[in-house]
Order: sequence, then structure tokens, then C-alpha cells
Amino acid sequence: MEISFAEADEPRSGAVVVGVWEGAVLTPSARRLDEATDGAIGRALSAAQRFKGKKDELLPIVGPPGLAVNRIVLAGLGKPAAANARFLEQLGGNLVAHLNGAGETEATFAIDVDEAADIDRAAAGAHLAFGARLKSYRFDKYKTKEKPEKKPSLRRITVTTAAPSAAERAYQPLDKTADAVFFTRDLVSEPANVIYPESLAAEAEALTDLGLTVEVLDEQKLRKLGMNALLGVAQGSARPPRVVVMEWRGAGGDDGSHPPLAFVGKGVTFDTGGISIKPAAGMGDMKWDMAGSAVVIGLMRLLAARKAKVNAVGVVGLVENMPSGTAQRPGDIVTSMSGQTIEVLNTDAEGRLVLADALWYCQDRYKPQLIIDLATLTGAVIVALGHHCAGLFSNNDELASRLIEAGKAVGEEVWRLPLDESYDRDIDSDAADVKNIGGGRAAGSIIGAQFLQRFINDVPWAHLDIAGTAWSSKDTATVPKGATAFGVRLLDQFIAQHYEKA
Ligand code: BES
Ligand code: MN
Ligand code: ZN
Repeated sequence: MEISFAEADEPRSGAVVVGVWEGAVLTPSARRLDEATDGAIGRALSAAQRFKGKKDELLPIVGPPGLAVNRIVLAGLGKPAAANARFLEQLGGNLVAHLNGAGETEATFAIDVDEAADIDRAAAGAHLAFGARLKSYRFDKYKTKEKPEKKPSLRRITVTTAAPSAAERAYQPLDKTADAVFFTRDLVSEPANVIYPESLAAEAEALTDLGLTVEVLDEQKLRKLGMNALLGVAQGSARPPRVVVMEWRGAGGDDGSHPPLAFVGKGVTFDTGGISIKPAAGMGDMKWDMAGSAVVIGLMRLLAARKAKVNAVGVVGLVENMPSGTAQRPGDIVTSMSGQTIEVLNTDAEGRLVLADALWYCQDRYKPQLIIDLATLTGAVIVALGHHCAGLFSNNDELASRLIEAGKAVGEEVWRLPLDESYDRDIDSDAADVKNIGGGRAAGSIIGAQFLQRFINDVPWAHLDIAGTAWSSKDTATVPKGATAFGVRLLDQFIAQHYEKA
């Protein structure tokens, strides 16, 4: 889908979208079109019983008189005070869905958002376009027999604005964000026979073209480093594990004056549960148990693509969790890279074992200024928070509130859950330093986070449990159902807002 910005002009083909404020107040473009069509908009507004110009309302006028367009779509803008960047993204996304449903191939968005209270002109057009692009994502490479009329029709969108070149400039970084989001969604959507530790590592390695330094640690290296917690998970699979380390140095300071931000991702390319095997129903979902790693890889790609003025490192632990004659057994005790011994009482609580070593390695090697991990860690976080908010755990209030705030700005929200010594006691093991599950079914997500915290030294740390948000079973305004890439936009916003040198 092609997106461009232009000054307002009489639309000549396809669909034209104009804005209507709540209370059926026409924007200037809507008024002009009303005149050009001899009052067709006014007539439609009085004939439509329910359209009031509220947010999310759309009213099509098919074949309007006096114009060479197929349709006019009236878009409810709600109240001016609420028309912020996020609203415009959602509107852009909703319009793409609507126009694809109608079979339109081109559209002009003449929304006049310049009037909105909370956003400048250039940014308004850019966010409208961004939302449209985000919603246009599809993972359809394996659909070889889809009929043309089932495919999305929309090819071209023109966003009209009084300041096209400023809007274009504002759109450029957002376009790169969408590229990274799509890249992450692709990785998460691919099945586990295509994306496995080596092939996912190769995807990361290909990003050196953008100026990232990428290092792939193979099994021999992992053994030498003592990553036995990670290796224990991998040992049942025919696919060897990998750890990928990505560095972006956009702030300079090789002397250690700018310690990096660190991002660590769970990359279980398929999670059968291992010997503690999962039930058959729904197991296919476990192809996306590597979403945390795909978000970290996508984020690193984005930082490089937009040349972010920040130092960042991404570490992902890539394994496949399989049952086999060589698989780890419940009750096995492994010595992690940290030196702590872990009693593995359930081989399905594998993400934390992978992260224990990846987190330790990352802190040990980089002494980062903060560390954030992302993982589809627990089914329990879905019980607690559903599919809207991800679970946030942190040992640092400032870090937590920055993440909460960034999440609100981009619509990838996180909700903080507690950490506490009293939960921590539940993972004391009779046989080793720590065990990988708690005593019962209570507080499963907190237990997972407590386990990770055992591998965190004195550094601001946050853990995002994205098991409920990495994949969506239904469309939302800017995210088609399927892989969401939840976390890429959140962390990019978090970095841009607080950590980039001016
Ligand atoms: N990958 C799963 C968590 C998960 C479940 C992600 C559903 C997405 C959807 C994780 O490895 C897991 O199996 N966790 C167990 C932990 C338990 C054994 C302590 C769980 O949540 O049941
Ligand atoms: Mn598991
Ligand atoms: Zn898992």
C-alpha cells in the first residue's frame, strides 16, 4: 500500500474521506464536498439515524452526485479535545478496514485534523497514515489459492494536509517503525518448521546491513559460558540452540561513559512443554513462544534504521522445547551461568530457564544502565490481565512508570503486578538453590517474575510478560488478528522519550 501527502484538491476518483465532529459539525473539507455535491452530505446526515460524528463512527455515501468519486466516507472525529495522535492512528486503521471491505483501490483522506486540539498539523497527517499502514499488514504468504476478491483492495492513500512536506518528514520515522513492526509480526507468524533457533539467528544476523553488530553464540560457546539452564531446555530437540547478541551504538562513548540499555527476549521457537508435555488442543499456538525475542530483534532493527542516538544491546535466547530420549527430566538439577543451581520440576516452565542465563550473560558482559526482558512466560498472565495489558514487574518505580506511560502513548499498555519476598519463598527448593515452579497454582505470573529476579543483580530491571498480548485472535483498530509485535512500539517510545541524546 502506497501512502503520500498532498495539498487539498478536488478528489477525482476512488473514495474520499472527510471528518465530522461530534454533534454532526462538518469540518471545512466536509463543507466543501457538501457544496460540490449539492448538499449530499447534509442529506446523508439527516437520513442516517445513528451517525452523530462520534469517534469510530463511519458513514459511506456511495455514488455521490456531482463528483467523479465512488464514495464519500464521513468519519466521526468525536470531540476535538480527544483527537490525539493515538486516535488518529486508530481512525487510519479503521478506514483501511472499511475501504478494503468496500473493495476500493484508492482513497483520499481529507480529514482536516489540523483543527484538533492536541496535535500539530504535520504530526496529525503522519499518525493518520501510520495507523493506516499498521492495519494494512497481512501474513498471507502461504495462502496460494485465495480469490482476488478476498484480498485487500486498497492500493493507494493520499492524505491531504496544508503542510505536505512537513507531514512527510513526520511520517518517515513512523514508516520505519511500521517496517520493524511488520518484520517482528512476520517472525512471530512463521511456523516452527521455518523459524527455529538457527534460522531465527540468521534473520538477526542479516541486520548487520543496517549497522548493527550481531554475534551468534553456538552450542559449543554456550557450553563454555556455562549456560546450562538454557542448554537443558534445548537438549531434547534436534535443533541446536543459539544466543544472539545485537549491539547498536548510536550514542558513542566506547569508554563506558554511556552504558547501554539492554533488552532480553525469550525465544522458544516451539514449546511442546517437553516431558511435562502440553495437551494437544491449542499447542500450535506455541509457535509464537519466541515473540519476546522477535520484539527484541525488531526493536534493534528499528533503532538502527532510524539511527537512534542511544546505545542499546539486545540478547535473545533461542531454543526449541521438545520431549525426546535426550530431553531434560522433571527433577533434573542444572547449574546456571550465575552459579545458582536450579531444580527443574516442570519442563514446561522453560522460558525462565532460558532467560536466567540470557539475563545473567547480558548483565555480566555489558553492565547495562537498565535491563528489560520480554517473554511469553505464563498462561497465568492471561487469566489475570486478558489480552489488553501485558504484565509488568519491576524492581524500580521510575522505570515502571516510564513503561506505563510509554504504553499509554502508543496503545500497548502494561499493568504493574507485585514482586515480594513472600512470593519468592515459594521457589526455594529442597534440593537446589531454586526450583522453576512454585508450590501450587497461585500467582503463576508473579512466581515466574520472582524466578527471573533471582538472576538480576543491582540494576534497574523490568520484566514484561507478553503471553496475553503477543498474539490476537481478533482485529483491533491498528492490529489485524495474529501476531501483534506488542512491545516494539512501546519500547521505541520509551527510548525516544527518555534515553536519546538531543
Ligand atoms: N509458553 C508458555 C506460556 C504461555 C501459555 C504463553 C499460553 C502463551 C499462551 C510457558 O512456557 C509455559 O508453559 N508456562 C507454564 C508455566 C507453569 C508450568 C509453571 C504455564 O503458564 O502453564
Ligand atoms: Mn512452557
Ligand atoms: Zn514457553
